[in-house]
Amino acid sequence: MTMAAKKGKSMPSSQVTVRRAGAQVGAFIENVDLSRPLADADFAIIRQALAEHCVIFFRDQELSEEQHIALANRFGRININRFFTPVPGYPQIAEVRKEPHQRSNIGSIWHTDHSYDVNPALGSVLYARIVPEIGGDTIFANMGAVFDSLSPGLQQTLQGLRALHSTRHVFGKDRPKTPGEDREGRIGNVELAVQDTVHPVVIRHPDSGRKILYVNPDFTVGIEGWLPGESKALLDYLYAQAQRPDFQYRFQWKKGSLAFWDNRASWHYALNDYHGHRRLMHRITIEGVPLTAA
Ligand code: SIN
Repeated sequence: MTMAAKKGKSMPSSQVTVRRAGAQVGAFIENVDLSRPLADADFAIIRQALAEHCVIFFRDQELSEEQHIALANRFGRININRFFTPVPGYPQIAEVRKEPHQRSNIGSIWHTDHSYDVNPALGSVLYARIVPEIGGDTIFANMGAVFDSLSPGLQQTLQGLRALHSTRHVFGKDRPKTPGEDREGRIGNVELAVQDTVHPVVIRHPDSGRKILYVNPDFTVGIEGWLPGESKALLDYLYAQAQRPDFQYRFQWKKGSLAFWDNRASWHYALNDYHGHRRLMHRITIEGVPLTAA
């Protein structure tokens, strides 16, 4: 509760506006300068929009590293990513970088950040510093809407299940290598990729209360107590459903754009269609809370 609310005073009104981006996911937040500390009334609107729309977008922001950190800190404690190369001098900020000579990018598989953690991240705040003239969009999907689209019978089955999530096959030293992999300077600390954890397949979102399908193709490795073939068949079905364009919004970046997504409620996918061009994003991830079954 804010100080104003505690004292029974009404909050000053806010100029901030929320405009839906896609039918199922995403909203643009306008009339706000993120380089300045957020007033309580603005903060309340932005937090509510994040819970409602899963990902929120801001345009034309000019942020120093310090201002980016201050913004993230307003929403929670920063999680220092253990695998991404940090921005020099700012361990709280992970670089999401692709250079013109590199073929692979970070994030071109559907995923939600940090599902491998015991308390997965609340969200990520990604700020565009250098973007290609065309390409390098990010697609977001609403995983609450995906769950709602399933039959009551399948929903009930899923609500009794738990899934295993891991870092080993993505960041670990024994992970399967893809031809032409060029992670040097971008991803490291392979020895720290030993984290496995189990989460309910359907979680109750801690803020919105919505039921969310909480498995993803990058970090989920199976359904607890099921044979690998059984897990694969179920997960493949769910992933095909979740990848339907009906649940998505595709965001086109510009320099100074910022996207803030809720990792519990959404998936995202970074397109890798801009070879020969540079893309440099700064990402801060915010700590989350333990997840509970729906
Ligand atoms: C990520 O997956 O965190 C990065 C997304 C992007 O670069 O658009």
